[in-house]
Amino acid sequence: MSIAIALDGPAGAGKSTIAKRAAAALDYIYVDTGALYRTIGLAASRRGVEPVASPEVEEMLKQITVDLTFNDKGEQVVLLDGEDVSGEIRTPEASMMASKISAIPAVRAYLLDLQRDMAKTHNVIMDGRDIGTVVLPDAQVKIFLTASPEARAGRRYKELVEKGMDVKYEDILQDVITRDYNDSHRETAPLKPAEGCVMVDTTELDLEQSIEKIISVIKENI
Ligand code: DC
Repeated sequence: MSIAIALDGPAGAGKSTIAKRAAAALDYIYVDTGALYRTIGLAASRRGVEPVASPEVEEMLKQITVDLTFNDKGEQVVLLDGEDVSGEIRTPEASMMASKISAIPAVRAYLLDLQRDMAKTHNVIMDGRDIGTVVLPDAQVKIFLTASPEARAGRRYKELVEKGMDVKYEDILQDVITRDYNDSHRETAPLKPAEGCVMVDTTELDLEQSIEKIISVIKENI
């Protein structure tokens, strides 16, 4: 049987960086489920479809294909109708679109099997918002990773500036607060700690300390 680690938490808590490194150390596959919601958000942007529950969104879901693959470095690649959109889904606009589109029940249902199938066939560390609560409630280890909004906005700001993007810290902080609110107040699969999860707060931890902490939580629980 394969092993599943569910890693949930708000935007910018460091989930993806930490999970990638922990997965490499433990020889698991890292699955970033936010990329799937971002890809559907991108599909909606491109088609001019409003990110609200509607027949248009349901029609769009019938027409598109979203695939999750890995390149030869083991990095996740998401394909929208066969096109690699892994770079294009990373802008602040795509983040906001993903947050809105992910509140739509039909979108969540559409992505459920894709996520569960990955966990059936591989040992995974799966990062998201509802992995421990909805997607993989039987995961061997469930972790809720968080940090203060200011710490998370600061990290996201640094990351985007390093990529050469022209962004303001205040805007990023506002985005973090808005997305936290959207993600934890939606009716379907809201962001909340899963029953039996281990809470890890990284506000006062640097990256290496956070990775060490997550690896030790996983090792203690499998
Ligand atoms: O982790 P991220 O920032 O790439 O996620 C983008 C958006 O997708 C985020 O606003 C919440 C949503 N999301 C979700 O609802 N469920 C998941 N399992 C992963 C992400």
